[in-house]
Amino acid sequence: MDIKTLFTIFIFFVVQNLHAEDGHGLWLRGQSTNSVKIICPKSSATLDIAGQELKQSWHGKSGATIILTVKSDPLIKGEGFKLSSGEIQANTDLGILYGAYELLRLQQTGEVIQEEISNPSYERRLLNHWDNLDGSIERGYAGLSIFWRNEKDLLTVTENDKILWQEYARANASIGINGAVLDNVNASPLVLTTKCLGRVKAIAEVLRPYGMKTYLSVKFSSPSLIGGLKTSDPLDPEVIQWWNDKVKEIYTMIPDFGGFLVKANSEGQPGPQNFGRTHADGANMMADALNPFGGIVMWRAFVYETSGGDRAKQAYSEFIPLDGQFRDNVIIQIKNGPVDFQPREPFSPLFGAMTKTSAMPELQITQEYLGQSNQLVFLSTMWEEFLKSDTYQERPGNTIARCTDGSVFPQKYTAIAGVANIGRDTNWCGHHFAQANWYAFGRLAWNNRMASEKIADEWIRLTFSPRQTDQIKNSNIRKWQKHFLAPVKQMMIQSREAAVNYMMPLGLHHIFAGEHHYGPGPWYAPKGLRPDWTPPYYHKADTNGIGFDRTRAGSNAVSQYHEPLCSQFNEPNTCPEIYLLWFHHLPWNYKMKNGRTLWDEMCYRYDNGLQQVRLFQKIWDQVQPFIDAQRFTEVQSKLRRHCRDAQKWKDGCLQYFQQFSRRPISFEIERPVYDLDDLEKMDFQQ
Ligand code: GCU
Repeated sequence: MDIKTLFTIFIFFVVQNLHAEDGHGLWLRGQSTNSVKIICPKSSATLDIAGQELKQSWHGKSGATIILTVKSDPLIKGEGFKLSSGEIQANTDLGILYGAYELLRLQQTGEVIQEEISNPSYERRLLNHWDNLDGSIERGYAGLSIFWRNEKDLLTVTENDKILWQEYARANASIGINGAVLDNVNASPLVLTTKCLGRVKAIAEVLRPYGMKTYLSVKFSSPSLIGGLKTSDPLDPEVIQWWNDKVKEIYTMIPDFGGFLVKANSEGQPGPQNFGRTHADGANMMADALNPFGGIVMWRAFVYETSGGDRAKQAYSEFIPLDGQFRDNVIIQIKNGPVDFQPREPFSPLFGAMTKTSAMPELQITQEYLGQSNQLVFLSTMWEEFLKSDTYQERPGNTIARCTDGSVFPQKYTAIAGVANIGRDTNWCGHHFAQANWYAFGRLAWNNRMASEKIADEWIRLTFSPRQTDQIKNSNIRKWQKHFLAPVKQMMIQSREAAVNYMMPLGLHHIFAGEHHYGPGPWYAPKGLRPDWTPPYYHKADTNGIGFDRTRAGSNAVSQYHEPLCSQFNEPNTCPEIYLLWFHHLPWNYKMKNGRTLWDEMCYRYDNGLQQVRLFQKIWDQVQPFIDAQRFTEVQSKLRRHCRDAQKWKDGCLQYFQQFSRRPISFEIERPVYDLDDLEKMDFQQ
C-alpha cells in the first residue's frame, strides 16, 4: 500500500476518534476546520505529509496561503528550517516537515509567530527501544512492543501494525526525533537474520517519509551465534568479512539504515574483551563495515565489573585510555550519570573528558528508576539540570550540552538518545503524564537549551487544552489557563524533586528493592548476589554514618572531574548538598547548611517528598472541571497509588536507616504508617 493511501486510512481513523480522549492522540489533537492554501512546487512523500498536516490542523487565519520552499540557506543547518510570514523554507524536505509542525505548534499554543530560524542541536535524535523479539520490553511499563510479536509470526505485517508505526513516526517527527533503534541493547543475535531484517525493512518503509531512520542493537558474538564461525574476534578476517557481508545485506534491503548500537562487555554481554581486544578494536571493526554506506556505530560506555572497585569510576577508567583510537563514525553513548539512570546523579565525568572521540548522551525516558508508569515524574527538569552542568573541560562554561553538540569538539556526527517509554497501551506510555517525557526528550534533542517550564507549558496546552471543535469561549480559556495550566505545570516542574526526596535524597542512590527497581529496599542484599547489585554497597549505612566515600581519601572518583569540581566535590562543605552522600560518608550528626543534623535533614526530605505528592493529588482533584472524565479518572487513580508508594519509600527508608542512626524521627514529621517488617516482605510491583 502506498503512503498516500495509508495516510488517508490514518486520517479516517483519526477523524473517527476525534472525541475519544483516551490519550492515544498524544499532543497531536489539533485538528481544525480552518482552511489553508499550500503552494509547494515540489512533491515528495515527506512534503505531501507536510501539506496534509498543515491542512488538517491549520489554526491560522482561514483562507491563508503558505509557501513551502526547499532551498539552501547557509544559516539553515541540516534539517533546520526558517519560518517567515506565509513561508517555510528548508534545505531538505524533512526540514519543511519540521517547520510545518513548528508552525502548527505555535498556532495551537497561542504563541506569536515571528520570523525564526530553528536548527537542531544534534544531528541524530534517537529513541532506543529495549524491545525483545518476542514482543516483551525490558524496563517497559506500557504494554508489549509496537514492533515485535512472537518470533513465529515475525514476517506477518498487518495493516494495524502499519497504522501504529505510522502514528508513532508522525508523533516523533512532530518533535524532531529522526531515528529509532528497534531492539533491546541486550540484543538477540536473531535480529540480524534475514527473516528479522525483513520486518525491519517493513518498519523502515513506514518510518521513512517521516524522516526516521532505523537502527539495530546487535550482539557482538553474532558471527559465531548465527554465522557458524568459530570465533567473533574482531580482528579475525572471517569475522570481519561476516560483518561486511551482513552490513551489505542490510543496506540492500534498507538503503537509509542508520547503524548499530552495541552493548559490549557489560552485564554479561559479550564483547571484544572476550578475545583480548579493546572496545576500540570492536567498535572500529563494525564502523569500517558501515562506513561505505554512511552508517554509524553507537558504542555504549555502560560498563562495570564486580571486581572493578567503585562502579561509578569504571566507564571513565576504561574509555579514557582509548580516546583518539575510535573511527570518526563511532560515537560513544554515555548514560547521563556514572552509575545508572538514578533519580539524581552527578553527570558522568566522561562528558567533555574525551576530546578526540565523539560522545553522545543516553537519557532514560522509560521510568525504570523513577516510578515506572505508576508515578507522575516529569523528567525534563532532570535532563535540563544534566545538560546545563558545567564540565569545566577546556574552559568554564563548557556545559554537557556544548560538549556533546559539536560546539566544543569537532565531531563528525552529533547525537543524543533516549530509552523509549512506548508500548502498545492505548495511551502509548502507561501514564498520561509519561507522554510528557517522550515529548520533552524530543524537544531537548532539537534544542538542548530549552527550558523545562516552556516544554511543560507547550505539552499541557497541546495535550489537554479544550478542543477547538468544542467552541470554547475566550473567558473559558482564561479560566482553563488559571485553573488547569498553571497548577498542572507547577506540579510537573516539582515532580522530579519530589521523587528524589521520597526515594533517595541528598545523593543517596540505588537503594531499590529487588531487580525490578520500583519500591524501597535499602535492606535488599540476598546472599550470593554481586555486591554492586545490592543497596548496602551504595548507601554504606552504619552506626557511624551514611554515604559512599568517593573523596580523595575514599574511592577517589572525585579525581575524574575537572577542577574546580574535583576539589568542590571532595569537601563536604563545598559539595552541593544534592550530591552529599554520593561523594561522602558522613556522621549522622553532621551539620547541614540549614543547621539541621544530617539525620534530621533526611527525615525532613523524605517527609517533604511525600507531602509534595499529597499536594499533587489535591491539585489534580481540583482540575476535574477542566478535563475529560477518562483522563481525569485514570490520572487520579495513578496519583493515589503514587501517594501510597511514596509513603512506603519514606517509611521504609527512615525506619531502616534509623536502626543505624539510633535517633528519633522529629515530631514535626508524620509518623510511619507501615511496619518495617512488612515492607521488607512486600512485593512492590503489585
Ligand atoms: C540497567 C537496566 C538493565 C539494562 C541496563 C543497560 O542496568 O536495569 O535492564 O539492560 O541498564 O542500560 O544496559
